[in-house]
Amino acid sequence: MSDPEAAPPKSLPELLISIERPGEYLVANPLVRTYALGDLSFVQLLSALRSPPGRQELERDFPGTPFRVVDATIPPFRDGLLGDPTALDREAPLEDAPPLDLDEALELSRRLMLTVDDEEMYAAHRGARKNVLDRAHRGTLHQRVGEYVMLGLRSDVDDWWVAQKFSEDRREPRPGLYSDVQFRFMESYYDAARVGGMRVLDFGCGPGLFARLFARNGATVVGLDTNPGHLQTAARLSEQDGLAERTEYLELELPVAKGLEVLGDQRFDLIFLSDVLMFYFHPYDAQLELDPVELLSGLAKLLAPGGTIAVLEPNGTFWQQPWLGDPERPFTIVTEHADRRYGVTPTLEQLSRAAEDSGLAIRRVRELVAQRSQAPDRANRFAQEFPVWWFFELSPPGGA
Ligand SMILES: C[S@@+](CC[C@H](N)C(=O)[O-])C[C@H]1O[C@@H](n2cnc3c(N)ncnc32)[C@H](O)[C@@H]1O
Repeated sequence: MSDPEAAPPKSLPELLISIERPGEYLVANPLVRTYALGDLSFVQLLSALRSPPGRQELERDFPGTPFRVVDATIPPFRDGLLGDPTALDREAPLEDAPPLDLDEALELSRRLMLTVDDEEMYAAHRGARKNVLDRAHRGTLHQRVGEYVMLGLRSDVDDWWVAQKFSEDRREPRPGLYSDVQFRFMESYYDAARVGGMRVLDFGCGPGLFARLFARNGATVVGLDTNPGHLQTAARLSEQDGLAERTEYLELELPVAKGLEVLGDQRFDLIFLSDVLMFYFHPYDAQLELDPVELLSGLAKLLAPGGTIAVLEPNGTFWQQPWLGDPERPFTIVTEHADRRYGVTPTLEQLSRAAEDSGLAIRRVRELVAQRSQAPDRANRFAQEFPVWWFFELSPPGGA
C-alpha cells in the first residue's frame, strides 16, 4: 500500500536516456553504471520527478498507470576483467516484463539510483568501502572485483585473474583483448633484434608469459612476483619450453625496497612491468603500503648503464570505461579523472611525477589499440578507437 505522506524521491539530473527499440528506453545513471529498460510511462514518471511533485499529484498524474520497466544492470566483471565493463545487460527483455505499479516503479528507480531520497547519501555512495560487506558505498574497482569474485563466485581473486587471462595450461593469453592488443604489441615490439642478449627483469611476472617471450628472443630473464603459485607455473612452463637455462623466478617479499635485495648485485638492460605498477598507486588491499616512487627508484638502481624501465599499464583514461554506442561507432563516458573513486589506474600526470621523483625521464609513449579484426565485435571495435593499455619507456636523464 502506498503511504500518502511519503515524499516521492527526486529524479537525478545526470540521467541519460536513449531509445533502444520502438517504445523502449534505456535509462542510465553513468556515475554508478546502473541501467533500466522501460516504457514511455516510466520515462514520464522520471520526468515528473524532476520537480518533485507531492504524492497526491503523482497519483493524480499516473492513476493506476502500469509501468513496464526492468533492471538492465549486470556485474561489470561477468565476462572477466577484460570483458565488457559497461555493466549493461544488452539482452534485457522488456516485452514479457510484468507491469509494475507506481510504488514498485519508484522502488526500482531508487534501487538503481535513477532517483534519490537523500542527496548526501547519494554523494557519499561514491566513496570507498569500509569493508567487503559495506553496501552503503560503491567502492573502488578493486573492492568491486573482490566482492564479485570472493563473495559471488567464492573464488580467489588471483586464481580468477589467471583463469581469465590465460589458456587452461596458462601458456597463452586467451582470445580477446589481452591477446589482440597486449600480446600482439609485445610480440612485435620485443623481437629478437630488440632484446636478444639483454638481461631482463620482469617485475610482477605472474605465470611468466612475457618472461618466456623475452627468453625465446634471446634474453636472460629474472621474473619476480609476490605470488609463489604464479612463480611455480612460470618455472614449469619455462622448463617445458626449453627455456629453463634462460629464466629464473624469484619470490618478491614486501616492502619492495627490501624485497629487491633478493637480486643481489645483478643489473639489467631492461626492467619490464606489465599490469602491476598501478597497484603501487592504488593498492588492491588497503592494508598494503605501496609507493610507486619507492618502487621506481629501487628499480632505477638496478639498471645497467643505458638500461630502460618499460611499463605496460592499463590506460589511465580508457581502461574499464563503458563500451557504448553501436559496435561500429563506439563511444564512452568518462565520469571521473582527477578524483578517482572507482578507477585504480594512475593518471598520466601521476605516472610522470612518479617517474620524475624517481630520477627517471619518460622517453617513449605508445597507446595500444587493436588491429582491425576479421570478425569485428564490440570489444575489438572499442579497442581500435580507445587504447585500453599504454606503454612507457623510462630511463635516467642522460641514459639510454
Ligand atoms: C595483473 S598480474 C600481471 C602479471 C604479468 N605481468 C602479466 O602481465 O601477465 C599482476 C601480478 O603482480 C603480482 N603482484 C601483486 N602485488 C604485487 C606487488 N606489490 N609487487 C609486485 N608484484 C605484485 C601478482 O601476483 C600478479 O602476478
